Parts: sequence; C-alpha cells; structure tokens
Amino acid sequence: MLPIEAFKSLDADDFHILSIVENRMKSFLYVPLDLIASDSGFSRGFILDSLKRMHDMGLVLYKRVPYEGYVLTYAGYDVLAMKYLVDFNYIVGVGGSLGVGKESDVYMAFTPTEESVVLKFHRLGVVNLQSATRIRDYLAHKYELPWIFRSKLSAEREFKVLRDVFKAGVKVPIPIVQNRHVVVMSYVEGDLLYVCDYLPDPHKFFEMILDEMRLSYNCGYVHGDLSEYNVIVTPDLECVIIDWPQAVEVNHPSAMMLLERDLRNIVDFFARRFKLKLNFTDSLSYVLGV
Ligand SMILES: Nc1ncnc2c1ncn2[C@@H]1O[C@H](COP(=O)(O)OP(=O)(O)OP(=O)(O)O)[C@@H](O)[C@H]1O
Ligand SMILES: [Mg+2]
Repeated sequence: MLPIEAFKSLDADDFHILSIVENRMKSFLYVPLDLIASDSGFSRGFILDSLKRMHDMGLVLYKRVPYEGYVLTYAGYDVLAMKYLVDFNYIVGVGGSLGVGKESDVYMAFTPTEESVVLKFHRLGVVNLQSATRIRDYLAHKYELPWIFRSKLSAEREFKVLRDVFKAGVKVPIPIVQNRHVVVMSYVEGDLLYVCDYLPDPHKFFEMILDEMRLSYNCGYVHGDLSEYNVIVTPDLECVIIDWPQAVEVNHPSAMMLLERDLRNIVDFFARRFKLKLNFTDSLSYVLGV
C-alpha cells in the first residue's frame, strides 16, 4: 500500500524536514536530530513535533542511542517521490496496485489529462539473492550503499535502458520520467503472456518477440530477465517487453549467457504452451543478426 493518507496530511515544512533526512542519509545510518534541526533552521521542538507525527505514520524510523537520530522508511521515500511527481504535474492521483514484484511495487496513476500511467517503485534490499548478484554486477562498487540509494540507482538504470531501447523502436512502455526510486511509464493494456492460453497465431507472436530481442540487441542491450512474465500481449496482439532494470550491455561478460537464457525461456514457453517446434540455434542466430 502506498502511504497516500500520510502524503495528504503532510505540509511543506514536513516535506522539507523529510528531504533533509533524505540528503543526510548519504553520510549517516541514522541522521542526528541536531543536524536535522540545524539544516532546517527550525527549532528542535518544531522538528520533533513534525518527526513524531511522521514516525507515527511510518515515514521515518527513530533511534535514541547513542544519539537521537532518524532515517526514512520506504514509505517516507515514497512520499518524497510522489511529492515531486505531483508538484511537477506528472500525476494528479494514484490508483490500484498492478503488481507487487520481487524488487518493485507497481501502481497505476493518472496524469492531469486523465491518461493512465504506471509508477514502478524500485525496492532493493528486500532480499533476493539471485537478482542481487546481477544488480551488484552492474552497480559494481556502489553496492555498499544503503537500500535507498540502491533503489534509486536501479530506477535510474531502468529508465536509461527504457529510453535507449524505446528510441531504437523496441516495443516497451513509453518512458516518461524518473525521480528517486520511481520510474513513470505509459500504462500498457493487456495480459501477461503467461496467462494467455490462446493466441491466434503463436508462431507469429514468437517471431515478434524475437524481433524485439534482435532490435534491443542491435541497440546494445540484453534484457536479462525475459520470460512469459515480462511480456504483455496487448488487445491488438502486439507484444510489449517490460521490466528492464537488470538489462546488460551487449559487451558485458555475462551478456551472451543472459541472452541465451532469455531465449531459452521464450522458446521453452512456446514449445510447452503452444506445442511449437522451434530451433534454438536458428533463433539465436536471428537475434544476433548473424
Ligand atoms: N507499463 C506497464 N503497463 C502495465 N502493467 C505493467 C507495466 N509495468 C509493469 N506492469 C505490471 O506490474 C508487474 C510488475 O512489473 P515488473 O515486471 O516491471 O516488476 P518486477 O519487480 O520485476 O516484478 P516481478 O518480480 O513480478 O517480475 C508486471 O508483471 C505487470 O503486471
Ligand atoms: Mg517482472
């Protein structure tokens, strides 16, 4: 659940105090109360009142020893990102949940012109060893950063890849903006491929996915987590590929392994579900453009 009620109840000073805590988290595990007070220019009493309310709403955590200090929770980070998106007119409201993934929460939201968009909140630090290894890989030395910054880096990464592949013509959600740990993209109507028991022409759909893999490889990326769970089948039977934060550059040492695994997932799915007879090696050559 997004902290919508908390978001609505905060005033400008609360947001200001919250963002001071955010900034100082770069250097403190718990940000000292005294520092928050001096950064803000508000009195200790005023700050405490605000922080206590935000603590009750679950936006910050509090620690008393060896000094009084505060940190953001994910909910606190969420309200800061939502504040940005609302202030800059990207969204006017948030709708229901579209999915709680391993490393993200995805929500529907609405623009001032009543278009549907998707907010993908990256949540790293919710432990998942398998993908953490890959995230560690691309975030390299930054792995030691706290969850808050790793989640932001993951969102930045997804947004960059989305923009690059989108520009190259790969069928992906339209990237709109990224702030903190949130990526905003267009909402894609349809069903995930894994729920589709029927497709009028499964072989054609398989080839469409190969085309997207080829185009994306051609523009420099391997998806790295491609499967029937990350392909949306739209009502007019187009395929849209989602979920890109773990994508790697084609010259990455694991790129070929990941590409083969992506392709294996897709080939196996179509063989299993639609009884297609597919040639893995030929498909791989096609994707590689050789
Ligand atoms: N642009 C979009 N349009 C419509 N639905 C979307 C969009 N992006 C994500 N979703 C929905 O949200 C779910 C989670 O998104 P995504 O796959 O990007 O994140 P994830 O954290 O990897 O999730 P998972 O761990 O389930 O793979 C998707 O399975 C899909 O149902
Ligand atoms: Mg996914």
